[in-house]
Amino acid sequence: MSKFFINGGNRLKGSVKVSTSKNATLPILAASILTDGEVIIKNLPNFSDIDVMLNILTSIGCKAVREDNSVIINSSSIHSYELPEELTNKVRASIFFLGPILSKLKGAKMSYPGGCNIGNRPIDLHLNGLRKLGAKIVEQHGYMYCDGKDMKGATIDLNFPSVGATENLMMASVLTPGTTTINNCAKEPEIVDVANFINSMGGKIKGAGSATIVVKGVKKLTGTTYTPIPDRIITGTYLIAGAMNGGKIELTGAKPEHILSLINKLENSACKVTIKSDKIVLASEGIYNSIPNIDTQVYPGFPTDLQSPIMAMQTVGRGVSVITENLFESRFKHVPELVRMGATIIVKEKQAVVIGEEVLYGAEVKATDLRAGASLVLAGLKAKGYTTVNDIYHIDRGYENLELNLQKLGADIKRI
Ligand code: UD1
Repeated sequence: MSKFFINGGNRLKGSVKVSTSKNATLPILAASILTDGEVIIKNLPNFSDIDVMLNILTSIGCKAVREDNSVIINSSSIHSYELPEELTNKVRASIFFLGPILSKLKGAKMSYPGGCNIGNRPIDLHLNGLRKLGAKIVEQHGYMYCDGKDMKGATIDLNFPSVGATENLMMASVLTPGTTTINNCAKEPEIVDVANFINSMGGKIKGAGSATIVVKGVKKLTGTTYTPIPDRIITGTYLIAGAMNGGKIELTGAKPEHILSLINKLENSACKVTIKSDKIVLASEGIYNSIPNIDTQVYPGFPTDLQSPIMAMQTVGRGVSVITENLFESRFKHVPELVRMGATIIVKEKQAVVIGEEVLYGAEVKATDLRAGASLVLAGLKAKGYTTVNDIYHIDRGYENLELNLQKLGADIKRI
């Protein structure tokens, strides 16, 4: 089991290129089965979740060949709509296969998806939407048996703007006859990216990024070559690292407009942020005021995926801050670990009150999920002395070369 070993206290200086978005690439890989043509995804990131998605593709007969930074996918030889449980158990994103498989093969069988340990993550919005499209879904013995033979365009009103449900239903409608209208959609940039990818193959999706998406079913898609967007959560993680530790960091290949909710907060907390097209430069003294209130919200609000990283930052900021987690019910598992390092945080239901100006001390801690793990790395970089972060396989799900990039910025961190 790998762990990170960090000697905290270094200022950060230098440049890092932002990786491709995990949350855009995962549904795009699933959507690639919609065509029999050749799909080339460029700038494929090296996250373990991506490996699992590629393994799922090959397990049902698709070809997926990695070449340099790309993957070439051909789904013309797909022979099964049964997704292997030992793979779907590993990633929540396996649910993204349900929509495209039903749309293309008119049938699917899979068990419930696994994934990040951040509380109950129902898939009712996905299943209700698919049923609205005419899919017959029987849930028995831990499996979903889906028959999509009678699927046709429909109007779906989502009770909540779920990112995953919006993407899955959009993908399910692509090869489904008729017009599908999805209301109360999530507006995250990753949804726009999935729609752009499908449209680049001849799909007819309009409105992605707004509350209403309209999909006109088509009979067939072509192949495509596509580069997904950069990862806004990774961008945010490095920005927070720079803000906390002081120094000057440059992020290249970013989309600053996707992460303004964080950038605005960092600017108010005495960091200087300069944006030049795909470049973000952050300068910080490493001494800053806490951000008084952080409320996680759907896009364009503050992302829940940066709630734990920003909490690490708040533990040492000047003043008290209240962080409200509105999206997920168990997303404070990093709190006891931060407290082990000297933080003062009081949690009540969905709110965490962080008393700042604490000195963090290195300790042995463990990543409980992907972003919680990132927050512990950030705390370790700031802490006095040595920090060991265990269970970093969670972090590898969504960050590539994290320790190498931080080393480039001058941090003392290694993987052991
Ligand atoms: C996606 C992101 C994840 C991010 C989250 C919120 C991917 C691969 N993951 O997850 O990193 O934290 O958006 O921005 O893109 N819900 C239901 N029923 C459903 C679906 C969702 O009740 O069928 C609830 C969830 O429990 C949660 C809320 O809706 O409380 C938001 O979830 P959702 O937007 O679906 O997140 P994911 O797509 O799972």
